Amino acid sequence: MFKLSIDDITPGMIIQQDIYDGKNAFAPLLCEGTRVTSNFLYQLKKRGVTHLLARKPFQGDVSSLPTGKNPLASVNIPVSKSKPVIASKTKNEVLKTMKDFQISLSGLDENDVCKIVNSLDDIMNRIVRDFPKNLTHTINVHHLRGNDMASYLYGHSLSVAVISMAIGQYLGLSPEEVLLLGKCASLHDIGMYMVSDEITRKPAFIRKDEHENIKRHTQLGYRSLLKMDAADQNIYEGILYHHERIDGSGYPLGLKGEEIPLWSRIIAVADTYDAMTSERFHRPARTPSDSCEFIMASANRTLEYDIVAALLRRIEIYPVGICVKLSNGDYGVVIENIRSKLRPTVRIIDSDNIVNLNDRKFLDITILSAISYQDIIERK
Ligand SMILES: [Fe+2]
Repeated sequence: MFKLSIDDITPGMIIQQDIYDGKNAFAPLLCEGTRVTSNFLYQLKKRGVTHLLARKPFQGDVSSLPTGKNPLASVNIPVSKSKPVIASKTKNEVLKTMKDFQISLSGLDENDVCKIVNSLDDIMNRIVRDFPKNLTHTINVHHLRGNDMASYLYGHSLSVAVISMAIGQYLGLSPEEVLLLGKCASLHDIGMYMVSDEITRKPAFIRKDEHENIKRHTQLGYRSLLKMDAADQNIYEGILYHHERIDGSGYPLGLKGEEIPLWSRIIAVADTYDAMTSERFHRPARTPSDSCEFIMASANRTLEYDIVAALLRRIEIYPVGICVKLSNGDYGVVIENIRSKLRPTVRIIDSDNIVNLNDRKFLDITILSAISYQDIIERK
């Protein structure tokens, strides 16, 4: 880890310390672990940052690592066990639909907007058909996003729809209600298409006035669909109130508890989980397990307890393929999590041993944290 002059930092390097701009000591401009982009460099220089703790990403041949063992050799993920919750064809179709929707909405093409909203019925139907039939089976939602942050909103819409429908099923909503909830969740952030890109894609701390601008997205989405008569009242309200919080701390109206429609309360939980586990312009993604800790702490405060409990029952906290650090000092990759979602089976990187954490002989080993694949490679 080196403190480098800003002029020696190049895109792709990893920031090793939260960076603050002095005016706001509470919220970092960029968080530790963020990968530098040319836009970040421009913004940092503009703010007078002269030096940074940063490191180069691992670029060499893995066989040349000092361990004498190729760590990647043991990190092969059993594809059958990391099966996406929905088919990739459906995923691509949803991403394209959301993109078309944004174009029609910005062109105020009422007919196209209504046509696309109607087509979501069939898509949501197909997504639910791919869900596990047994409601106690968990789903891996970490395959749903695109790889580039430019399409974050499209992937976020899909992911929030899938998580919301999984929660809705668990809470006993009828199949028709689950489909409409999915439709509403896939449209929940459409108001963001009407907020300036400069703010939504800002790679740095968002100022208070900019945040106020972002907060308008709930009303903008609500009004545009209402004006075009593109859906029904439940969907409009689901969109309008998805940032309300049960303690009254949300927006736009500061509604409390059951004053907030059920769909909005469900979307709020799904939205929070997906946003935390996604890489954003100004911070890296948090792990599913860390995000669940945060959401559990919010249960009965800002988020509804039963909905949080349903989320924790239905999503994978340690998805197959995630890297973990164990209390005995080993690093491993989760290769199976069906028998116990909190005590998965892990393949140890250095020894290739298989450790089923649910096995009696391994009960004293705990998972300390989920860590990035890059950090495992670079840990020496
Ligand atoms: Fe939102």
